[in-house]
Amino acid sequence: MVNDYEKVKVIVDKYGGNHDSVIAILQDVQSEYHYLPEHTLRAVASQLGLPLIQVCGVATFFKAFSLKPRGEHTVTICLGTACHVRGAPAVLDEARRQLGIEPGNTTDDMRFTLETVNCLGACALGPILVVDGEYHGQMSPGKVKKVLNKFKKTPGDKRHEELEVSS
Ligand code: FES
Repeated sequence: MVNDYEKVKVIVDKYGGNHDSVIAILQDVQSEYHYLPEHTLRAVASQLGLPLIQVCGVATFFKAFSLKPRGEHTVTICLGTACHVRGAPAVLDEARRQLGIEPGNTTDDMRFTLETVNCLGACALGPILVVDGEYHGQMSPGKVKKVLNKFKKTPGDKRHEELEVSS
């Protein structure tokens, strides 16, 4: 069985152990774990021969990195002014209801993280809901469930089929 240190080593080796690739390495580690667990930051630092504080500095500087466990899918709702006046708060309320979590949190089954942003730079499409980087414009509370259900389904996963039936 491959342990986490070895998993990180495969990623570091992919970039030739190059210090200059620390951001790309952390991105790949985050794709693997959905966040940056502390022990993986230690492994990256040790394998690149960098001080841990330097690797942690990169991990905390960029908003794209998370030191907290995140769900498999990230649901982002824009609450910027243009989206707000077109009904984003109601879209957020429905997403909270569907997922059973508040913004900034992750579902217990680690499937979804819910977050808000202040503008995505695509105001004409508002209100906007984004799942894993995929934009869903002109969102309404009635469409939220349909979009989220696409990501709740995993072939052969009975638990999520039940979730869909009971919601
Ligand atoms: S306010 Fe939502 S994209 Fe600009």
